Amino acid sequence: MSKAVDSRTDRPESKIRFSTSWSYAPAPETAKATIAPRYDLFINGKFVTPAKGKYFATTNPANEKKLSEVGEASAEDVNKAVKAARSAYDKVWSKMPGKERGKYIYRIARILQERARELSIIESMDGGKPIRESRDVDIPLAAAHFFYYAGWADKLDYAFPGRTARPLGVAGQIIPWNFPLLMAAWKIAPALATGNTLVLKPAETTPLTAMKLAEVIRDADLPPGVVNIITGAGETGAALVNHPDIDKIAFTGSTEVGKAIQKALAPTRKHYSLELGGKAANIIFEDATIDQAVEGIINGIFFNQGHVCCAGSRLLVQESVYKTVIGKLQDRMETLVVGDPLDKNTDIGAINSKIQLEKINEYLEIGQKEGANLWQTSCDIPSSGYFCRPALFLNATQSHRITQEEIFGPVVAIQTFRTPAEAIEKANNTPYGLSGGVWTDKGSKIFKITTKIQAGVIWANTYNKFDPTSPFGGYKESGMGREGGLHGLAPYVELN
Ligand code: NAI
Ligand code: MG
Repeated sequence: MSKAVDSRTDRPESKIRFSTSWSYAPAPETAKATIAPRYDLFINGKFVTPAKGKYFATTNPANEKKLSEVGEASAEDVNKAVKAARSAYDKVWSKMPGKERGKYIYRIARILQERARELSIIESMDGGKPIRESRDVDIPLAAAHFFYYAGWADKLDYAFPGRTARPLGVAGQIIPWNFPLLMAAWKIAPALATGNTLVLKPAETTPLTAMKLAEVIRDADLPPGVVNIITGAGETGAALVNHPDIDKIAFTGSTEVGKAIQKALAPTRKHYSLELGGKAANIIFEDATIDQAVEGIINGIFFNQGHVCCAGSRLLVQESVYKTVIGKLQDRMETLVVGDPLDKNTDIGAINSKIQLEKINEYLEIGQKEGANLWQTSCDIPSSGYFCRPALFLNATQSHRITQEEIFGPVVAIQTFRTPAEAIEKANNTPYGLSGGVWTDKGSKIFKITTKIQAGVIWANTYNKFDPTSPFGGYKESGMGREGGLHGLAPYVELN
C-alpha cells in the first residue's frame, strides 16, 4: 500500500485536518460603541468645522459600510491648528513644570483604560483588526505608553544626566492605519512628556479612535491647543510637513512618503524622525524548538493581517528542518480563522482597505509569475468586505520582488539556508533594516546572529513583542530615530 503524499511538501500527508469537523460557534463582541455620524477637527480644545466645510467617509472594511464621516482639513485648518499649538506652547505648556505635565498624561492613560472596551470595538470596526488584538494589544499598549511617558515628564534631568533637555516646540505628527490609536500614543506621549505641543493627523481610513482620543484629551482637561487632531489624507499631511512654524515632524508610514518628507525637510531647520517600511527575516535554525518557532512564524506574519512594519515577512529556514517546519506551518495555518473582526474567535480580520487588498492580490500574482509557488489555506472567507486567505510562497529567491518589497499583508516568502553565514547574508540583503527574528536553542548563536543582522529590533525565540520601555526603529530605508523607552525622548528635545 502506498502512503499518501502531500503534494505541497512531498512529505507524508498530515493526519490533522482542521478544516472539516472543528468549528467554533460565533462569539461576537456584544459591548456597544458610540460612533457619532460626523467628527469635526479638534483644534484649540474644541471640535470645529473644517474651513471648506468638506467631510469624507470612513468605512468598515469588514462589510464596506460607512461608519461615520470626518472633516477634511485644508491648509487653512492646518494653519489654525499650528497656531493653536504655538500659542499653547508659548503661553502654557513650555512653562509648566514637568510634574504638572505628567499629571495630565497620567489622566489620559487612565481614561483610555476606563474606555478600553469601547475603543477596542471602534478600532476593530474602523480598521478591520480582530477584536482579540485591539482588546489585548493595541488599546492596553496605548494606555501603557501614556503611563510610561507620564513618568518621565518630571525626570528629564535623569534621562539626560548633566544636560538640560529643552522641548523643540510644535510637533507635526503623521500616522498610518495599521495601529491607529497605538501610533497616536507613540507620537503624543513622548512629545507631551518633553514639553512639546502638537498637531496630529491620523490616516484617512482609520480616523475614529484618534477622534475618540480627542474627546479623551478634552475630558482630561488639557490646556487648549496642547494637542490638536486634524483629519485628512496625504494633502493635509503635506500641508503639515510644509508649514513654516513647525519645529519637528514625526512620521510613520510608507517608505515612499517618508522619502518625500525627508526631501521636503532637508533644506529646512525642522527636526524629523521617520518610521518606515520593513521586510524582516525570521530565521529558523535546525536546533530551534520547532513547534514554538511555528507559533512565532504565525505571530510574525499573520498578526494584524500582516499590516505590520516589523512583520516577519521573509522566512529563512535551515534546509535540514525545512520539510518539518513547512509541514507544521501549513497545518497550523489551516487552523487560522479568517473573518468577522468583532468575533472573538477570529485570528485574521479584514484587510484595511480595498486599495491594500488589491496591492496584496497583485503581489500574489507577481510572486507566481516570478516562479515562486503560492500556497493558501483552504478556509472560507466572507463574501463581502476585504479579506485574504493566509498565504505563503515556497521557493522564493533573493531576487524576487515578493522577497524584496513590503507587501503589508498575510503573505510570507520562504527561503532556505545551509549555514549561519548564509542566513546572515540573506537576512541583510534588503534595503530595509527594521526588525528580525532568530529561533535557536543556543544562546551563543543568538548573540552571534543578532549582532550581525542590521535591524533596529531583533527578537530571539519570540516575535512581535512590544513594550513602552523598549526602543523601536530602523536602519537603512526603514527610517531614522527611535520611539519608545528612554531613546524615544531624544527626538523631542534639544540638549544643552
Ligand atoms: P502612506 O505612507 O501614504 O500613509 C501614511 C500616512 O501618511 C497617512 O496618514 C497619510 O495620509 C499620510 N500621507 C500620505 N501622503 C503624504 C504626504 N505626501 N505628506 C505627508 N503625509 C502623507 O501609506 P499608504 O498609502 O496608506 O500605504 C501604502 C503602503 O505603505 C502600504 O501598502 C504599506 O506597504 C506601506 N505602509 C507602511 C507602514 C509602516 O508602518 N511601515 C504603514 C502604512 C503603510
Ligand atoms: Mg475605516
